[in-house]
Amino acid sequence: MATPPEVPPEALRGEDIVKRFGAVTALDGVGLTLRQGEILGVLGDNGAGKSTLIKILTGFHQQTSGKLFVHGEETLLRSVDHARSLGIECVYQDLALANSLSIYHNMFLNREIIHRGPFRLLNNRAMRARAAECLDEIGVHVPSVDLPVEQLSGGQRQAIAVARAVNSNARILLLDEPLAAMGAREAGLIIDLILRLKEKGGLSIVMIMHNYAQTLDIADRVMLMQRGRVTYQREAASTSVAELMEIVRREYREMRGTAQ
Ligand SMILES: Nc1ncnc2c1ncn2[C@@H]1O[C@H](COP(=O)(O)OP(=O)(O)OP(=O)(O)O)[C@@H](O)[C@H]1O
Ligand SMILES: [Mg+2]
Repeated sequence: MATPPEVPPEALRGEDIVKRFGAVTALDGVGLTLRQGEILGVLGDNGAGKSTLIKILTGFHQQTSGKLFVHGEETLLRSVDHARSLGIECVYQDLALANSLSIYHNMFLNREIIHRGPFRLLNNRAMRARAAECLDEIGVHVPSVDLPVEQLSGGQRQAIAVARAVNSNARILLLDEPLAAMGAREAGLIIDLILRLKEKGGLSIVMIMHNYAQTLDIADRVMLMQRGRVTYQREAASTSVAELMEIVRREYREMRGTAQ
């Protein structure tokens, strides 16, 4: 008897997620499944609800209704710390790095290594060594981990934010526009980093993207959001930039039609 192709277990699933902010319905019945080891690319216009979805998956917002399952178990994510304790890490659209602090301090922000003993001093030596080791492991090259983050380029900064999330033993990584406002070279650095992390295995990634071609290059599956809903989901290998553009164009035509 032929064995069916193996489908990896799910890492995250959302069912009929609704999120309202007062009179605004940001998410209007969103369903999504992220499988282990998969990269899911999320596309959509400004205001489509992409960041809101990520913020629910990372425990920053709670859904108004709908269910979330983490590693197959129904879970209400109460806070970012709660989500983090389940291995969910996020790199936000508006990055949370402390620009005046060194790279290695940033990598251990809020989870500093402390010396044993009564004085609870920071163990800078251990943090510096671990930060360098982690960056090296995932192929991020910086002149020194002692450099303040403000001296890095946008792409390097983004890479540090991703490295920091990965360094925390994340099993699910949520990236909100990691390539925003980046040149081709910097975007290439992040794409390489993400693909290397994927090859290492064990990590599932949701990434919000703007560029259709980059999304199809990097993601296993793409999902298009329009006005709080998921309007399209497909294996990346079986869609194209032209098809995605056509769907979005159709929506514009319909919106113009209703406005007239
Ligand atoms: N904290 C909030 N309070 C009130 N409304 C909000 C809040 N956050 C988001 N919204 C609204 O929810 C909708 C979706 O916003 P969201 O930030 O999720 O969009 P997005 O798809 O990430 O857009 P962009 O591509 O511009 O980042 C928008 O209408 C926005 O104004
Ligand atoms: Mg957003």
